[in-house]
Amino acid sequence: MYRVGILTASDKGVAGLREDLSAAAIREIMSTLEWRVVDYRIVPDELDAIRDALIDMADRERLDLVLTTGGTGFSPRDVTPEATKSVIDREVPGIPEVMRAASLKKTPRAMLSRAAAGIRKGTLIINLPGSQKAVRECLEAIMDGLPHGLEILTGRGGECGSPPFRGD
Ligand code: MTE
Repeated sequence: MYRVGILTASDKGVAGLREDLSAAAIREIMSTLEWRVVDYRIVPDELDAIRDALIDMADRERLDLVLTTGGTGFSPRDVTPEATKSVIDREVPGIPEVMRAASLKKTPRAMLSRAAAGIRKGTLIINLPGSQKAVRECLEAIMDGLPHGLEILTGRGGECGSPPFRGD
């Protein structure tokens, strides 16, 4: 079981003008895996607010996984990838690559998400787009590969060469 945090970046959500359906979708998907959502925060689309929350969730809460939602697009206030890149030690480009590749089969607008992913110490941080639909589509695309990454990151075993990962 992994300890998961959800960080929503949304000016409207903070102002109470938008129900956080994306976080609810993440919770629902995590519960099917029996991964425990132990931290949920919502912050405005501001670099420092997102950055401070990510650092706290990684360094103090020591979460295994932080899923952000929102703020990956083209609006001048969309800065979640920049905040994420400013706190990670190692980038994991494959995760957003897979999300965008899978999402492009659903909508050409998938190319508009600038989502990033990376590792800060023992925490994997993944940006998801803001809509509930996009969250579901992106998580669906990465869920098969994610448990193995978390196994390795958290030192809970997992041989990279063992099946089914190499098709043995
Ligand atoms: N990815 C998937 N799978 N499904 C979607 O509907 N929407 C796109 C894109 N990625 C979408 C998607 C759209 S319309 C935008 S603008 C970007 O994500 C950025 O979204 P964000 O600003 O809410 O993070």
